[in-house]
Amino acid sequence: MVAEEVKSEYAGEIGEAIAYGLSAPGKRFRPALMAAVHRELGGKGTVSWLGAAVEVVHTYSLMHDDLPCMDDDDIRRGRQTAHRKFSVATATEAAMRMVPLAARVLARGADMILCSRDELGRMGKELFVAAGASGMVGGQMMDLEAEGRSLTVEELEQVHGAKTGALVAASAVIGSIAAGADDAVVVHVKSFGEELGLAFQIADDILDATASSDTLGKTAGKDARQQKATFATILGITDARARAEECVGRALDNLREGGIDSKLLSALGRFVIEREY
Ligand code: IPE
Ligand code: IPE
Ligand code: MG
Ligand code: MG
Ligand code: MG
Repeated sequence: MVAEEVKSEYAGEIGEAIAYGLSAPGKRFRPALMAAVHRELGGKGTVSWLGAAVEVVHTYSLMHDDLPCMDDDDIRRGRQTAHRKFSVATATEAAMRMVPLAARVLARGADMILCSRDELGRMGKELFVAAGASGMVGGQMMDLEAEGRSLTVEELEQVHGAKTGALVAASAVIGSIAAGADDAVVVHVKSFGEELGLAFQIADDILDATASSDTLGKTAGKDARQQKATFATILGITDARARAEECVGRALDNLREGGIDSKLLSALGRFVIEREY
């Protein structure tokens, strides 16, 4: 839906590249998580556009992540990466233009469920702080700087928490704000999302080392080739799995401490560590 809008808004190749990235078959885990939190906290209406805003940021991060100056990947979501399909310049600019696009999609999503200005402000802060230097962008920088170095588990948790955990947590938090949750509950939802996000990236590391490129829709075995610091290399597969399991356990404990006991969110927790791609 957003991809179609984009084509009419951005003329030429940039619009095509944005639509190409957004329409690729990702898992849509972050929007699904947001919708689940919103529903379990009794929210009304749809958060599909709020979820799409996070997905726009996530997709932009993948387009940059795949560039030759970052992870240099040829396949993403089972297709050619954006810079292979178009060019490095087009993919770089298209991804950058997705940041203001995400802001507009978020504002539209907030209007759709009649959020107050205050709620929209809080949701915007969650999304863009999570996407910024203390979150995704900062985590990606740390990830690149760590190539070829050995990190401690604590250091790697910091990298993963920032590059992936922050946006996953923001998805959960935005779902809770959209549901009108009290601040005291939102705090627990945030801790839940951070643990879940860390588990998500640990699982991503394990899959890179254990699954095939066909199943993943992206190049398998790449982390080892690029000497990335990952949970699979630092701990080994068995201990990395155990670590991810612990994170999900702590994530659900955080929810219960916030008074939320949800089969749906427990199932999403299982999905994070049992998924095959
Ligand atoms: C891949 O994210 C990159 C990470 C942050 C781990 P996803 O595994 O959510 O990728 P898509 O969106 O389903 O393609
Ligand atoms: C990327 O982590 C995290 C982002 C913020 C995009 P990875 O580099 O491990 O993601 P994949 O494995 O290429 O999807
Ligand atoms: Mg990367
Ligand atoms: Mg990568
Ligand atoms: Mg990976």
